[in-house]
Amino acid sequence: MAAEQGTQLSEAQIAVHWREENYYHPPAKFIGQANAADPAIFERFSEQRFPECFKEYADLLTWDAYWHTTLDTSNPPFWKWFVGGRLNASYNCVDRHLATSRNKAAFIWVPELETEETKAITYQELYRRVNEFAALLRDFCGVRVGDRVTFHLPMVPELPVSMLACARLGVVHSEVFGGFSGVACGERIADSGSHILVTMDGYYRNGELIDHKARADEAVAKARDLGAGVDKVLVWRRHPGQYASRSPMVPGRDFFVDDLLRDYRRTVVEPVSMPAEAPLFLMYTSGTTARPKGCQHSTGGYLAYVTGTSKYYQDIHPEDTYWCFADIGWITGHSYIVYGPLSLGTTSVMYEGVPAYPDPGRPWRIAERLGVTIFHTAPTTIRMLRKLGPDEPPKYDYHFKHMTTVGEPIEPDVWRWYHDVVGKGEAVIVDTWWQTENGGFLGSTLPALKPMKPGSCGPGVLGVYPVIYDENGAVVEAGSGRAGNICIRNPWPGIFQTIWGQPERFVQIYYEKYCRNKQSKDWRDWPYFAGDGAVQAADGYFRILGRVDDVINVAGHRLGTKELESASLTVEEIAEAAAVPVMDELRGRAVEMYVSVKPGVAPSRAIEEKVAKAIETEIGKIARPKNIWIVPDMPKTRSGKIMRRVIAAISNFTDVGDTTTLANPGVVDDIRHHVQAEKVGRGEVPRKLSPQEIEEIKAFGRAE
Ligand code: WT7
Repeated sequence: MAAEQGTQLSEAQIAVHWREENYYHPPAKFIGQANAADPAIFERFSEQRFPECFKEYADLLTWDAYWHTTLDTSNPPFWKWFVGGRLNASYNCVDRHLATSRNKAAFIWVPELETEETKAITYQELYRRVNEFAALLRDFCGVRVGDRVTFHLPMVPELPVSMLACARLGVVHSEVFGGFSGVACGERIADSGSHILVTMDGYYRNGELIDHKARADEAVAKARDLGAGVDKVLVWRRHPGQYASRSPMVPGRDFFVDDLLRDYRRTVVEPVSMPAEAPLFLMYTSGTTARPKGCQHSTGGYLAYVTGTSKYYQDIHPEDTYWCFADIGWITGHSYIVYGPLSLGTTSVMYEGVPAYPDPGRPWRIAERLGVTIFHTAPTTIRMLRKLGPDEPPKYDYHFKHMTTVGEPIEPDVWRWYHDVVGKGEAVIVDTWWQTENGGFLGSTLPALKPMKPGSCGPGVLGVYPVIYDENGAVVEAGSGRAGNICIRNPWPGIFQTIWGQPERFVQIYYEKYCRNKQSKDWRDWPYFAGDGAVQAADGYFRILGRVDDVINVAGHRLGTKELESASLTVEEIAEAAAVPVMDELRGRAVEMYVSVKPGVAPSRAIEEKVAKAIETEIGKIARPKNIWIVPDMPKTRSGKIMRRVIAAISNFTDVGDTTTLANPGVVDDIRHHVQAEKVGRGEVPRKLSPQEIEEIKAFGRAE
């Protein structure tokens, strides 16, 4: 940090100006039926009632043993919720609904190909499948309470079946997003220490049957390089009985699940009664270093939190058809496709494919066909559907009562299209702000009780008290127009327990910055640092500006600059690499890589392509950069640190600022002329950026 004193911008210095948006009020019809329609709920969750207020969420679950301590703060910041309580997540999501809803659809699965039949999986059928797969894991694989099992599964019903089977056994699942590469999967296998990989032979993406099993071989090889042995690879088949991959099955290691399951028909596995504090799953995410962080989520606190927020913020009623159009490979899907909705016994829709396949009317056809009442997706999907099919929604006869946007800031203009055209002006919208680490929502309006404001998520959710601090820990007042670091003053049941295997990093990244007293056992001394910049308006609503660490949010996917850079450095010709964000009309942000080559190597398209391929191999196709620029030298400080804000400014056509403190100020103009001329040639000049977008670029790279 010291290296660039003077050019460093603290969040608190950023004055943010934007037009205040008008409120939108929830429709009377929505208010009339809402789960939370009485303002007394704010009283029940007031700070004076903390932490006991969360009993209301925990009481939505079925406990084998009730807890004696709601919140144990004896080892900060490793909070423990509902201590003494015991429960099983699979029982809560499946078994307990059988008595009343045995033949209700738990999932409706929509395959990508429209010629393939949509499938409804009832709670009874889910119960059978979860038990049989749990028996297979226990008896064939020998997994036991506390073991980790890694999945690399796409959006198929086998994914929630596998999750719930692990949960039934008290086994910790770790799903790696299906779009991640084999290498990325292998790293996560090694980090979590799992010996079993559950995958699928193939799945449909843009009408094409992708060979997915090939990635399992790469994953096992990568894990082996890292010293971790995978004993068994369980391969579900997209079409049981037919193998869709070219990759050979390795005898003694690879097994078709549909074959094995024959031995477990009708087997019933008793749900293992787990302590509330037992880990339920790991979900890896990106941060400032190249090593991904395995966020460890609890059983009791997590399940209570996603159930409570699904009820009040998603307004799920038993009769709703709820469609969260996200991937279960991300936390959104874990919490709001699987655990929250199933715990409430609703019908959760799963769609295998991409939004606009075979045309941008597809999501609305699905909504019409299934009678979807609640719709949940990300700004990137909304932007894409608006661009490709702005007039599609009115062609279909569906009616949403409720819609969600999640994962990135949404532009007010996109919000209005979502409200007016997708929602036909009939639906309430919640803009939910949260993170992989959080388990469930942190910021949102309570849909029947607070008006909506396009572009703002709203206040903290029930029982969550956010605050904005400046770099020195002083509170940035609501309505001041100043931005700062958004933090949460208190623990909540959905907060992750630790970073798997790295408890010191857990404390350091999330709590050290604003901890007032490391000796203190009072939660008030341990605010949670979220890593997002935000502004709070006079009405208490937060507007989230984006990450303050070096994470680039591409279409709602968190990519660490360090991960992108170390992937680029696997190419032998590359000497140095720097990743920066560039504003992108559809994806919010895209990645641009700047690389320099080793002495004696001539720059070429082939090297650019090698870098792109390396990123696809190490991380996945989602991380493929928009552009790769080979530069003669990186702009650097005198201490040799790459000035990412300078190249970020070049990529975004903003002011590079003061470069006089650089060791090599001369390269800046060379790079700018080259890159910007190329971009103009490709028609990639960005629209006029907003003041806060300009500030984001200026501040990029300050996390180091
Ligand atoms: C980051 C977390 C948790 C859902 C999926 C993303 C950004 C998330 C919003 C929102 C503005 C948002 C933040 C956050 N973000 N929701 N409603 N408005 N920004 O989870 O991959 O862990 O990413 O996404 O920057 O820190 P994630």
